[in-house]
Order: sequence, then structure tokens, then C-alpha cells
Amino acid sequence: MGIVVAIDGPAGSGKSSTAKEVAKRLGFTYVDTGAMYRAITLLTIRRKISPENSEQVVSLAELIDIRFRWENGNLRTLLNGEDVSDEIRSAEVAQAVSPVSAIAGVREIMVKRQREMSSENNIVMEGRDIGTNVFPKADFKFYVTADVEVRAMRRIGDYQKIGQNLSWEEIVEEIKKRDRIDSSRTHSPLKKADDAIVIDTTHLTFEEQVEKIIEIVKNRPEMVR
Ligand code: DC
Repeated sequence: MGIVVAIDGPAGSGKSSTAKEVAKRLGFTYVDTGAMYRAITLLTIRRKISPENSEQVVSLAELIDIRFRWENGNLRTLLNGEDVSDEIRSAEVAQAVSPVSAIAGVREIMVKRQREMSSENNIVMEGRDIGTNVFPKADFKFYVTADVEVRAMRRIGDYQKIGQNLSWEEIVEEIKKRDRIDSSRTHSPLKKADDAIVIDTTHLTFEEQVEKIIEIVKNRPEMVR
């Protein structure tokens, strides 16, 4: 098994961009588990399957193929071969993803695939339950967080990039709602692992967030295996 750097945290905490850059600088494979849950959610929307219909959602999750590919420095998400990278970032998917990812059967399938990804590679894996559930014995665990207002500011930019103009208030509401569902669900809720190092990015620049993690990883003996 390769070295595992687990990075968890709530929506908009800056964990995605940070995790991506950390992976790049360490030369590790980056895995965005949120994109996996978003991809299955997109498919349920397209097929008009309600998250309440959990059996159908699980059957769909069993069949789909989700892959990642780097293209000109951007990570692309492929769902059954189709590039859905932009579509999975839409507000529609963001609103529907929490109930879909709360389905136990969906999580089982995704977690199994996530564990398989570490068998041959050193990885930086980002999500909500990586340090607590997917890799409870990860070599490194970080919990990246920030005040909700700062997180909403960052999300505005993400939405603008894909041409959706949501107000700051709408985004604060969306984030709060998602936090609530993600933290209170029965199966692997969003929770800091007891042994995770907290990185609060409220007052940190991007470079500072990345540097903090890189420094900790590079200074630990696990890196000299
Ligand atoms: O990180 P993100 O915003 O792209 O994640 C989208 C949703 O997926 C998030 O609201 C909760 C869910 N998720 C999860 O349940 N477990 C993970 N490991 C990653 C994401």
C-alpha cells in the first residue's frame, strides 16, 4: 500500500484546491471523493431517480464507471467515459448530493473503490470521511476548515467560473444546509478524526495552507520508507 494523506473538511473550506496542490508538490496521485458522489448524483438527476428511492440509486452506483484524468493542468472527472467536470459543480448537483451520499449502499461502493486506489499509488485523498472511515490508519490526516462566511465567499468564485451567479446569501444557506446534513447523517458523518491535524484557513493564504501541510508531511519519518 502507498502512503496516504487524508484531507477532510466541510464544503468551501479550501480543502480541494489545497489537496490538489499538495498532491502536485509531493508527486502523489490526487483523489477527489466529492466528485465521485457528485457524479452519481448527476446521474440520478438525469434519470429522474429520487434519493428516497435508495435501492435504485445503489443499483446505479454499482454500474457506473468514474475516472479522473489530468488535462492541461486541470483534473477532469469522467462518468462512463463522458467528461462531466463542469456539470457536477452546478447548484442542482450541490443541492442534491448530500441525500445521495447519505445512502449507506452508495457509500459502501464508493469507499471500496477509494480503498483500491491506494493499493499501487501514494495518494492525497480529499473528502469528508477519509481519515475517519476510508483510511482510519492513514499516514497523515488533516482536517481543513474555515468560517462559513469565508467559505461562502470562496464558493461564489467557483460558481462564477461555470456561469452560475448565486448570491452570497444563497450560498451561505446552501453551505449551512450541506454542513447540517453531512454532519448529522448516520453513516460516516463529516467529523474530525481524533488524530487529525486541524488547519483553519479563515486567515490563511492559499500558499500558507499548502505550506503547512507540506511541511508536516515532509518532516515525518513515514516519508522515508
Ligand atoms: O467536497 P464536495 O463539496 O465536492 O462534496 C460533495 C458532497 O459529497 C458533500 O456535500 C458530501 C459528499 N461527500 C461525502 O459524503 N463523503 C466524501 N468523502 C466526500 C463527499
